[in-house]
Amino acid sequence: MQAMSKSKRHIVLGITGGIAAYKTPDLVRKLIGSDFEVTVVLTEAAEKFVTATTLAAVSGRSVRNDLWDPDAEQHMGHIELARWADLLLIAPASAHTIGLMANGLCPNLLTTIYSATTVPAAIAPAMNQQMWFNSATQRNVEQLKTDGVLCWGPAEGDQACGEVGPGRMLEPEQIVSEVLKLCDESNEHKPLTGINVLISAGPTREAIDPVRFISNASSGRQGFALAQGAHSLGANVTLISGPVELETPEGVSRVNVITAEEMKRNVLIHAASNDVFFSVAAVADYRPASVAEQKIKKTQKFSSTLANLKLELIENDDILLCVSEAFPQLVKVGFAAETNDVLAHARAKRIRKNLDYIVVNDVSNPTIGFNGLDNECTLIHAEGEKKLNKASKEEIARQILLEIAPSIRQRTRK
Ligand code: CTP
Repeated sequence: MQAMSKSKRHIVLGITGGIAAYKTPDLVRKLIGSDFEVTVVLTEAAEKFVTATTLAAVSGRSVRNDLWDPDAEQHMGHIELARWADLLLIAPASAHTIGLMANGLCPNLLTTIYSATTVPAAIAPAMNQQMWFNSATQRNVEQLKTDGVLCWGPAEGDQACGEVGPGRMLEPEQIVSEVLKLCDESNEHKPLTGINVLISAGPTREAIDPVRFISNASSGRQGFALAQGAHSLGANVTLISGPVELETPEGVSRVNVITAEEMKRNVLIHAASNDVFFSVAAVADYRPASVAEQKIKKTQKFSSTLANLKLELIENDDILLCVSEAFPQLVKVGFAAETNDVLAHARAKRIRKNLDYIVVNDVSNPTIGFNGLDNECTLIHAEGEKKLNKASKEEIARQILLEIAPSIRQRTRK
């Protein structure tokens, strides 16, 4: 069974024939109260117990009950619903529907959606206790479990038919809690689900004249690997990138910039709507005080003395420091490339820039860092330090993200 992502909250609620169907308007209300969108699909038997009008009113969406509805099926309605769903929940699930599902039969819209969807499916069985104990029902339930369907309940107790035993549908709040648990389980696999991550990457370029600039050897790979890694762990990622030769990772929103000034402007605009800032960019510390409008010509050929070109440089703002000052609540992760006294410089930088974390690597080692495919670094925070052994930049990104994900969640309370 696939995991259900918390950011995806579409539930197709299939309601089948059984007295417990009278509880489903309440179930729909509770699911909506927990931030899910619910589309109800009724079987014919369900309509004997609850009306489509009530369910449309509480769900705020039209209720589907007919596989042969010409309007809906013109647009392949059953396939659309199978794709729209992030969870197919069948509550109450009758012995009849369980039997159909277990045997791959699709005589109605609900069972057709079940056979056409790849998302998690869960049943909350409800039936007379003898029907539950019936060996065919038990066989079918076992088959569904083998097929990866989750089975929530049934509960034991007094039954509408006057008997006592297992067969009661779980209460709506219990079903909602199972749905939420399912979301949490998948959050463990995607620990950054719902977190907004801002990343700066690559070098900046500071123009000297129309054809020359000051820059550095940053490839942008570590920042791009973090963007890709954060996205695959569930985050919404915005990447502010200097000029690099890299493809935008799938699902990542990218803003291209050239100069440190542009990078600063864009980072500050996006910082307001993000939870975390990974400042991976190798921002040029200085820029020429003025940019020549025309290409600067060399003069020495035409003069008897060597004419040295002197550039006046002025300091660029420290973008990370600006973010620290303007957005104290943001989780901030700096990256330091050092050539000597690596850890001491990085520790001081973390404190000076008021960072939660700093990732430092030794760029005097030519096999790692700036332009290489691999990296080896140390993650430093207030409580300790963790060495991340030499690995691909993608793997280093994954380790950094997994290491700090719990404190991001704690800080953001998401
Ligand atoms: N940084 C920044 N803006 C700058 C310079 C650096 O945002 N103008 C950020 C980098 O993205 C990185 C961190 O600050 O996350 C450390 O960058 P680094 O170049 O190692 O440090 P500097 O503060 O520039 O210090 P120095 O060059 O003296 O080592």
